[in-house]
Amino acid sequence: MQEQQTVYILRNALSEEACLLLSTEMKIHRSCQSLTSEEDVMSGDGQVNNSFSKYASLGNEAILLLMNQKANEIFGEELEPTYSYSRIMTAGATMPRHVDRPECSHSVTICLQKDKHNTPYPIYMGGEQVELEVGDAVFYRGCEVEHWRNAYEGEEHIQVFLHYTPKGSGLIYDGRPFVNFSKD
Ligand SMILES: [Fe+2]
Repeated sequence: MQEQQTVYILRNALSEEACLLLSTEMKIHRSCQSLTSEEDVMSGDGQVNNSFSKYASLGNEAILLLMNQKANEIFGEELEPTYSYSRIMTAGATMPRHVDRPECSHSVTICLQKDKHNTPYPIYMGGEQVELEVGDAVFYRGCEVEHWRNAYEGEEHIQVFLHYTPKGSGLIYDGRPFVNFSKD
């Protein structure tokens, strides 16, 4: 990935089976939360409406570690993991234009599931429109490149985000003792 390059797309970064496993894990988290919470679990996380999100679920944290070496190769520098985050997004989900916090300086997002109509849900990054199929990943510098999504018009779309920072930044594991810890 060149210094001036905005995004790098890696097709088939994860197998269909791996994506099915991770999307199923997210749905289990959603079901469990809906059974124990009075609130609408699809109400969003303050950034994306009409969505369910999960910080550092175990499967996603495993992928965070496994994808570290590939991220090193693609970004051309030694990186350390900060955290993973995943969302299930439904009709109307919109991600406003933003840049990320420093813990997300080197980021990857992978499409885990599209709906049965294969409804597109492009992410816009610095003027580029990126449409991912299941298993595809896009690597981007989250603090430098503005990114956003327009309102989703499909039924259900699942995406995971993997975040890294340069080695020695002091931000490893997002301030946690290791992966799989909650942020609190
Ligand atoms: Fe972001």
